[in-house]
Amino acid sequence: MSLCRWGKLCFNLPRLTWSTSHMAAHHSTARHTIHFSGNSSATENSSPLKTYEEVKNYYGKQLSNTKDLKTSACAAPSKPLPLHLKAALDQIHEDISSRYYGCGLSVPESLENCIMLDLGSGSGRDCYMLSKLVGQKGHVTGIDMTDEQLELSRKYIVFHTEKFGFQLPNVDFVKGYIEDLKAANIKDNRYDVIISNCVINLSPDKKAVLREAYRVLKDGGEIYFSDMYINKALPAELKESKVLWGEGLGGALTWKELFDIAADIGFCTPRLVTARYITVNEELKNIIGDYKFVSATFRLFKVPKDAVKVKCRAVYNGGITGYEQKLELDANITFKVGEAVEIDEELSSILKCSRFVDKFSFQEAGNMPCSGSSHLSKETIRNPFELAEALSNGAQYSCSGDSGCS
Ligand SMILES: C[S@@+](CC[C@H](N)C(=O)[O-])C[C@H]1O[C@@H](n2cnc3c(N)ncnc32)[C@H](O)[C@@H]1O
Repeated sequence: MSLCRWGKLCFNLPRLTWSTSHMAAHHSTARHTIHFSGNSSATENSSPLKTYEEVKNYYGKQLSNTKDLKTSACAAPSKPLPLHLKAALDQIHEDISSRYYGCGLSVPESLENCIMLDLGSGSGRDCYMLSKLVGQKGHVTGIDMTDEQLELSRKYIVFHTEKFGFQLPNVDFVKGYIEDLKAANIKDNRYDVIISNCVINLSPDKKAVLREAYRVLKDGGEIYFSDMYINKALPAELKESKVLWGEGLGGALTWKELFDIAADIGFCTPRLVTARYITVNEELKNIIGDYKFVSATFRLFKVPKDAVKVKCRAVYNGGITGYEQKLELDANITFKVGEAVEIDEELSSILKCSRFVDKFSFQEAGNMPCSGSSHLSKETIRNPFELAEALSNGAQYSCSGDSGCS
């Protein structure tokens, strides 16, 4: 370990064999250096490198299928699956879906033709589902650091290409660390959408992960990811627990930490999509005591710094597969087809810069008759514990826009 000239910690990893499908051969002999942002959440005793080795061991050797997980969040999404997603999932090979270790549904809307990246793709279940959704003209790349996971995911590329009726594969899996996508030859401003499912928690340097995600996203792109969050910071000795870290609990951020990191990097305010409490088995219960965890899905958009930010009214025109009548952008706002909703400056810049732009019409707020609804007078829920509590009590937290004009 050494200090780089810009003051970040650098770890010179031993020679790694990079067997990616799209990377140039020079990586196979390259010495790989990961630059940590200085926000490493691994404790002093457990270096980031040790964390990597333990996580690889956990997912590569110890777990053999979904049932081996010790937390409940990795089992089911908090809402019923939309039919088009269910249809895609049903076509995925059993060897892949039985080794799904995610903790949410990391699949946003309107993905046709998108170029996508999955951080920590594991067995590839989400990548294959997305492969079907983006279609032959789109592309999905999964990145993972664990050989066993990569080997399994790559084994079924031809199977799924044929199953989905594609002429050519539109998915590949590359080996690499999500903190250093550059080393895996992942280019700047290339991706429409990045997803990640229960992986960023496992990283010893979440800020580096999100900074890299920001670099490789196009303007208007987003990272849409499910992860676990904790109600208060864990003491160092609990972070040391291999099983807690391996299950994604030891490295969980508080939701406020996520918001701080996102703001530092330049993302828009994280938008909370859904959240649910996590239950753990007896073994973990004894370790975590009264710490509480939720699994939550957030979406973070990248809009250009000079994007115009003005309040306006947005009307959803429909046309997104699976969301023909309404689009629930997050837990706080739902657009019904044909209904004008008053939105704030940030959301207006997101909709106008992103792939959603063609699905909406926009009206200057000042010139509109007083009809439709306002998103602005509602209290925004950002805390996933608050949302999980509300949803567990059966509340519908989607703002359906019924507060009238402000
Ligand atoms: C909990 S599993 C989730 C896998 C997959 N997303 C899913 O939903 O089934 C975590 C995966 O992330 C990978 N992973 C963890 N930390 C990583 C890192 N820093 N860089 C690359 N891959 C990582 C592990 O190898 C493992 O395959």
